[in-house]
Amino acid sequence: GAIELGPYQHFMQKEIFEQPRAIGDTLNGVTGIMPELFGDNAFNVFKQIDSVLILACGTSYYAGLTAKYWIESVAKIPVNVEIASEYRYRDSVSNPNTLVVTISQSGETADTLAALKHARELGMQHTLTICNVATSAMVRECALAYITRAGVEVGVASTKAFTTQLAALFLLTLALAQTKGLLSEEQEAAHLKAMRHLPVALQSVLALEPHIVAWAEAFARKENALFLGRGIHYPIALEGALKLKEITYIHAEAYAAGELKHGPLALVTEEMPVVTVAPNDALIEKLKSNMQEVRARGGQLYVFADADSHIKSSEGVHVIRLPENYGLLSPILHVVPLQLLAYHTALARGTDVDKPRNLAKSVTVE
Ligand code: G6P
Repeated sequence: GAIELGPYQHFMQKEIFEQPRAIGDTLNGVTGIMPELFGDNAFNVFKQIDSVLILACGTSYYAGLTAKYWIESVAKIPVNVEIASEYRYRDSVSNPNTLVVTISQSGETADTLAALKHARELGMQHTLTICNVATSAMVRECALAYITRAGVEVGVASTKAFTTQLAALFLLTLALAQTKGLLSEEQEAAHLKAMRHLPVALQSVLALEPHIVAWAEAFARKENALFLGRGIHYPIALEGALKLKEITYIHAEAYAAGELKHGPLALVTEEMPVVTVAPNDALIEKLKSNMQEVRARGGQLYVFADADSHIKSSEGVHVIRLPENYGLLSPILHVVPLQLLAYHTALARGTDVDKPRNLAKSVTVE
């Protein structure tokens, strides 16, 4: 039947708040890590492959970038992530022992389907998709699949599809690691426990909404914004900037914070809000010195920290603290406040949140 808005003002808001349910459903029935979660023949395929090639567009591409950090760190398999529209037309070097992974909410994106076909024509037959639509062309075309259970996503700006893709990609990471003998039973149990706790952890992140509304008032008056992250949160900074530009039309760019000094620092003035994704991880001290570089030029920092990252509010430094440090799964939590920031900034600017100008939900022509 028709999808109802219920108590929400927009589908995007509804879909942001649905994420605990969407992740719960996506992981429902996963009682242990096993290649068969991806299809009957997955064990044999995972045994043979020595590299991963991820193909996707838009937000799904950023899910792929996040997965590169996970797979290389946990499963020790080299990963390339390619924008589908580039890969399909570029001369590349093919390796038949590659697992080709497409990521697509709709399963109908023309460039991603064409990139998959191109990879196959180059001799890569091991294909797997992470997809939200079980009946889509993508699922029919790929040998292996994991269907995310986000449910129908109406808002053009993807939210729950992204976080469920990340959940599925983390499962893939663990299944690959297990096949390579790199996942102990203790590690498996610990990861599963953390994954099962995601819906609860997401609820407490969603509860930060009132604080984010206050920030959105300031953002609504800006025409430019910079997003910074490092390591596994760099793709999350990219996704945060994409959300903001898609629905508020504010020019937003994301940088790996270590690259600040190679260009974007020239843009930083008092007028430039700098959103920083800053959970406690191995790079937090490096990130703090990047933040100093911004402050020294008068830039306003808007920091999403977590329980452990010990960053205090001060003049020009605004901090919202996520309740928990979530280790490897932290990107799934940290993208949520960025979605809310884009949403509330768009509300304040009065743009058409669910149907931003010039954009389509699913791009089925080139
Ligand atoms: C469009 C949508 C994005 C989406 C992208 C890829 O640009 O507006 O939200 O990320 O297509 O779509 P897919 O269905 O392949 O994930």
